[in-house]
Amino acid sequence: MSVLSDGRGPIRIALVGLGWATRSIWLPRLRGNPAFTVTAAVDPAEGSRAAVAGAQDTAGLSTFATIHDLDPAVVDLAVVAVPNHLHCAVAGELLAKGIAVFLEKPVCLTSEEAERLADAERSGGAVLLAGSAAAYRADVRGLYRLATRLGRIRHVELAWVRARGVPDRGGWFTQRSLAGGGALVDLGWHLFDIAGPLLGTAAFRHAIGTVSADFITRRSSRADWRGDDGDALTGGTDVEDTARGFLVTDDGRSVALHASWASHEALDTTRITIDGSGGSATLRCTLGFSPNRLQESTLTRTMDGETHPVAVPTEPVGAEYDRQLAALPAQLRDPAGPGRAIAEVRRTIGAIERVYASARSAPAQEAPKAREAEPV
Ligand SMILES: NC(=O)c1ccc[n+]([C@@H]2O[C@H](COP(=O)([O-])OP(=O)(O)OC[C@H]3O[C@@H](n4cnc5c(N)ncnc54)[C@H](O)[C@@H]3O)[C@@H](O)[C@H]2O)c1
Repeated sequence: MSVLSDGRGPIRIALVGLGWATRSIWLPRLRGNPAFTVTAAVDPAEGSRAAVAGAQDTAGLSTFATIHDLDPAVVDLAVVAVPNHLHCAVAGELLAKGIAVFLEKPVCLTSEEAERLADAERSGGAVLLAGSAAAYRADVRGLYRLATRLGRIRHVELAWVRARGVPDRGGWFTQRSLAGGGALVDLGWHLFDIAGPLLGTAAFRHAIGTVSADFITRRSSRADWRGDDGDALTGGTDVEDTARGFLVTDDGRSVALHASWASHEALDTTRITIDGSGGSATLRCTLGFSPNRLQESTLTRTMDGETHPVAVPTEPVGAEYDRQLAALPAQLRDPAGPGRAIAEVRRTIGAIERVYASARSAPAQEAPKAREAEPV
């Protein structure tokens, strides 16, 4: 009998995709949380399997080159962190064979993929959980609490602008066929997740946007904290480093989004402003793991011409991922869980598709001249 149904014993985890996210974010946290036990690890790359199998505390860990070999009878949850273009195929196969899946963002790359995941969740009878931790941050939760005192929410502005931080520059992250897009699907997905609770169930009626890639060719734009080999652009790049979107909900509210992997800024900064009928609130912080960050989170409330600070905690980097993991056991056992993640995913991917379609229909922007950018 599954530990999920009898509620006893740690949840048995299969890690699927053993790259940066699994090794830096999930594996150490899963090992540090007695609610989980990592029993299987899957990656076609032998080096990645060896790196995980060679780490401490791997007694009883089975490694596989493919998910076909995972036995649903001995896995309660698959934590899936594979390149974006494989999210739907890998998670779909696991769900269809009855294995619950915690799937990294971006959950999928098209609305059609969202429907395939929904079908797999239904046919396999296993729940899909979506992995973006931003809404688990204590400062974001402080912003949500303040939002309840701002009257009617009219507009939400979300910007995550890195000074530099193109992931895996020249690798799969910067190729559209493998990543599905650039900063919008990568950082923007987190921004949509933060906006979600502020918008309730409202759908997006309109979505327009622009994209640009003025920084991605600069060597200095790479996310050096990942340890990627991003010096040479051997694989080329054809995604945006910056995306801007403007969306209107069917109940008349607006959302402005700005996601940048690299920019003219000095520090990697996230800024979220909520304008309400009774005041506005702004949170400034840095999402993610970049070391080039604001040292503390600040939250302010503005009303009648006066701006006041509102106390908000600054947590250790990555605390939101611990909190998200802590929430997983209850989410896995929640009978209302199936279908919940995919409902949010449909809205997000539908908006992303329309922002990209709008950007593609705009007049082409001239690329920066060679002397304006550093050599590749
Ligand atoms: N939530 C976050 O903050 C966060 C942070 C970083 C990355 N991510 C997401 O995690 C995912 C992985 O990113 P990454 O940085 O770890 O990439 P990565 O390239 O470092 O790792 C991907 C791994 O997947 C493996 N893989 C490829 N095909 C596979 C398959 N069919 N089955 C199993 N494994 C397979 C690769 O060999 C590689 O080891 C991406 O979707 C990314 O968006 C999320």
